[in-house]
Amino acid sequence: MRVALLGGTGDIGEGLALRLARDTDHEVVVGSREEAKAEAAAADYHDAVGGRIEGRQNADAAAGADVVVLAVPPYHVRETVEAVADSLDDAVLVSPGVGMAREAGGFRYDPPPNGSVAELAADAAPDGVPVVGAFQNLAAGALSDLDRTFEFDVVVTGDDADAKATVTGLAEDVEGLRALDGGGLSNSAEVEAMTPLLINLAANNEGMHDLGVRFR
Ligand SMILES: NC(=O)c1ccc[n+]([C@@H]2O[C@H](COP(=O)([O-])OP(=O)(O)OC[C@H]3O[C@@H](n4cnc5c(N)ncnc54)[C@H](OP(=O)(O)O)[C@@H]3O)[C@@H](O)[C@H]2O)c1
Repeated sequence: MRVALLGGTGDIGEGLALRLARDTDHEVVVGSREEAKAEAAAADYHDAVGGRIEGRQNADAAAGADVVVLAVPPYHVRETVEAVADSLDDAVLVSPGVGMAREAGGFRYDPPPNGSVAELAADAAPDGVPVVGAFQNLAAGALSDLDRTFEFDVVVTGDDADAKATVTGLAEDVEGLRALDGGGLSNSAEVEAMTPLLINLAANNEGMHDLGVRFR
């Protein structure tokens, strides 16, 4: 498959690009608002892990991709989807986004009015483009630390069974990730809301940085 990571120059994009390129045969396309930035990041990632990685401006990255991951800050999801809408072809859009607010005591879940970032992405997506929530509970630091092994779950939410199956397969191609069906897209808020908890636990407990979840 061809997997585009819009905003793949950032933290979670880097982690996903490195793991996908290292562990799978999928083509990884790093997207950016600036082509030169995408190309530079792709070259760095390729130096680190090899694999099939290239860099493109976001809309060019999305064109021809089977899966398009919205690895951009949650409050820029709508403009990013709109910027690539004409290039989405038959792609599945994936939302890893989590809206959070920082307060004195730590991070708090702060969803958009749509209920979750995944539902915001679905609202912005062109008709017929399925949106799947996934990867919200992974820590970029854990993915990018290539010496680190882990057993993390990826909860997959969505209303299109084929799109969910595609993203489930993609997640499970990465060593140490298990995908679990979290039900419909309207369940995405429950998944996203776990992320500030993970960050607060990591901040307040020794030796727990870059936590993930494993359901047992
Ligand atoms: N970091 C994590 O550990 C983590 C874990 C789970 C989920 N997430 C979610 O993943 C998403 C990305 O997080 P991140 O930490 O990787 O973010 P980030 O590093 O702050 O940003 C990612 C990329 O977004 C692009 N970007 C920045 N401002 C933008 C704008 N106004 N419009 C469009 N694109 C813009 C930038 O790429 P260009 O400048 O190259 O365009 C940037 O490199 C967020 O929704 C976050 O909630 C993050």
